[in-house]
Amino acid sequence: MKGRIYYFTGTGNSMRAARVIAQKLGDTEIVSMRNDPGECSAADCDMVGFVYPVYHWTMPAHAAAFVEGLEINPNAYVFVVAMPSFICGIACERLAGILAEKGISLHYGNLVYSVANYAIVYPPFPPAKLRIPGTERKLRNIADDISEKKRRAFPRAGKLIKRRRDRLMTPYLALQKYADNPFTVSGDCVSCGLCSRVCPCKNIVLQAGKPTFQHHCANCMACVVSCPKRAIGYDITGGDRKLLDAMSPKTPLVKWMGLPAKRKLYRNPFITANDLTKDRELWQEEAKPERF
Ligand SMILES: Cc1cc2nc3c(=O)[nH]c(=O)nc-3n(C[C@H](O)[C@H](O)[C@H](O)COP(=O)(O)O)c2cc1C
Ligand code: SF4
Ligand code: SF4
Repeated sequence: MKGRIYYFTGTGNSMRAARVIAQKLGDTEIVSMRNDPGECSAADCDMVGFVYPVYHWTMPAHAAAFVEGLEINPNAYVFVVAMPSFICGIACERLAGILAEKGISLHYGNLVYSVANYAIVYPPFPPAKLRIPGTERKLRNIADDISEKKRRAFPRAGKLIKRRRDRLMTPYLALQKYADNPFTVSGDCVSCGLCSRVCPCKNIVLQAGKPTFQHHCANCMACVVSCPKRAIGYDITGGDRKLLDAMSPKTPLVKWMGLPAKRKLYRNPFITANDLTKDRELWQEEAKPERF
């Protein structure tokens, strides 16, 4: 096995990135971070990649925990591609820190600014038709760099972002344990279980045919954008109010959370809901990526 790329994704941007790079490299497996890291070790790989969105100006907590548990060949070429919408913050530094503790160096780091997907806070922006052509171009350039094993220092946050992050994002992160309390499931649910299969955190269990949320949610939006009946809603003021009640004055963002019935939802145009259910894919030969 030449390479393995580990991805965490909610709405497909990061899975698309992992695929484009694997297609260029050939003989490369892409592996969802939904898997148990003990069962998909990178001890035998010469090339190891990590691709993930940026959440709250850092790496998603679930992705960080996955890498902490992963065994990696210390002689491998290691890269990261983070997929922010606008602010990357410490998303790459966080990974570099986890790898450093294992004695692993990061040889290449890059960012791809993508469509912002946090559906319970805002509609998708910039519109996919404006942003995707640029993200696809950048992905192809990154895939070329990686196939040549180029070296590139990973992007770091500036001082201002670091200071602001402590003030704005740290209190918000403390509320993550309540993040799935406001999810609602309407009577339109047909108990198909797709929401459970796309969840990268194994956070949804069907009980008596009804999705129930297990309180280790990343708010990734996979379930929301994949439900064929649009049965999943988010109501911060009704029902379980733990998130709203725990809100500190420093996290006014929480007040704005919700999912109006007519809000446009985004999923990467190259990735289907069925793709989001996959645990791993092997790209054996160089393939030409489809065009937008
Ligand atoms: C919970 C959450 C938090 C986010 N926080 C940030 C952020 O801090 N900075 C940023 O640039 N984008 C942020 N985003 C946008 C995503 O990083 C971006 O849309 C990403 O490309 C989604 O990747 P995916 O399709 O692989 O899930 C956030 C999205 C979600 C759902
Ligand atoms: S995907 Fe939608 S319809 Fe299917 S079980 Fe989940 S909420 Fe119900
Ligand atoms: S429950 Fe939904 S939003 Fe939460 S991690 Fe799973 S798919 Fe993502």
